[in-house]
Amino acid sequence: MDVVKLQDVWYRYPESPFALEDISLAIAKGERVSLVGPNGAGKSTLLHLMAGLYYPTKGKLEVEGTLLTKKDARTVRQKVGFLFQDPDDQIFMPTVWEDVAFGPINMGLTETDVKERVAKAMELAGIAGFEDRVPHRLSIGEKKRVAIAGLLAMSPPMLLLDEPTANLDPQGRRDLVNILESLDQGFVLATHDLSVAFELTDRVIVLKKKIIFDGDFRALVNDQAVLKEANLELPSFSRLMTKWRDATKRNFVPPLTVEEALAELLRQR
Ligand SMILES: Nc1ncnc2c1ncn2[C@@H]1O[C@H](COP(=O)(O)OP(=O)(O)OP(=O)(O)O)[C@@H](O)[C@H]1O
Ligand SMILES: [Mg+2]
Repeated sequence: MDVVKLQDVWYRYPESPFALEDISLAIAKGERVSLVGPNGAGKSTLLHLMAGLYYPTKGKLEVEGTLLTKKDARTVRQKVGFLFQDPDDQIFMPTVWEDVAFGPINMGLTETDVKERVAKAMELAGIAGFEDRVPHRLSIGEKKRVAIAGLLAMSPPMLLLDEPTANLDPQGRRDLVNILESLDQGFVLATHDLSVAFELTDRVIVLKKKIIFDGDFRALVNDQAVLKEANLELPSFSRLMTKWRDATKRNFVPPLTVEEALAELLRQR
């Protein structure tokens, strides 16, 4: 079943040119998808639409078979968890604990359940011990972790993640990849970090107002025209391996993760 389906969707902000043009796509339950493209490509806008926070200017958007209308927007919003690109748009309670607990409390869970979920989510997001801290005094990376804990505590059927690894330190980035890897839910991940995208998803959508590519990462890596048009740069180890392959007249598919690169090097020894 499709969790989200867009048909010929166009979107414009007031008094602006169209930010999204003619978007058609469907995301299946449990599917993991990366959304990439240059600054201003419309990634955050598309995630806001999928989250039921914006309405299409033209076209149709369905979430779990429900057509998005103002009347159903609330139901739609409960089905998806949205991580905003800027954590300041997300965090608003006086303490970290209250912020992470806000969603679960609104879901009508018992106090014991709320406490359990919040503790587990904070542990996973690496902010155990931050319960009484004041969110707006945290660093950007810490705020991001609070926002992520808030999402994990709600455990919605689908996650929409806008630049989840931006501003995280290398360990935080690795922890987040591991958390996302372990989730049962599907997610759409907007990112400029292709390494993270490769690790977590097979399907990638390249956006530049319109969808200029929707398919498998392997196909994207070999599509120089799309990579160039969307200002996408493969990770440095991948570019190094490709140059080495060509310089030594070897033949292999460019690796997309460090593990794949190592395996290829060992094979080529
Ligand atoms: N509130 C707004 N009002 C008017 N125009 C906006 C608004 N928000 C975004 N835009 C414009 O819409 C376009 C798409 O912006 P969006 O934030 O979706 O891009 P993005 O792909 O997420 O970029 P980035 O990689 O920088 O996060 C841009 O041209 C942007 O200037
Ligand atoms: Mg954005």
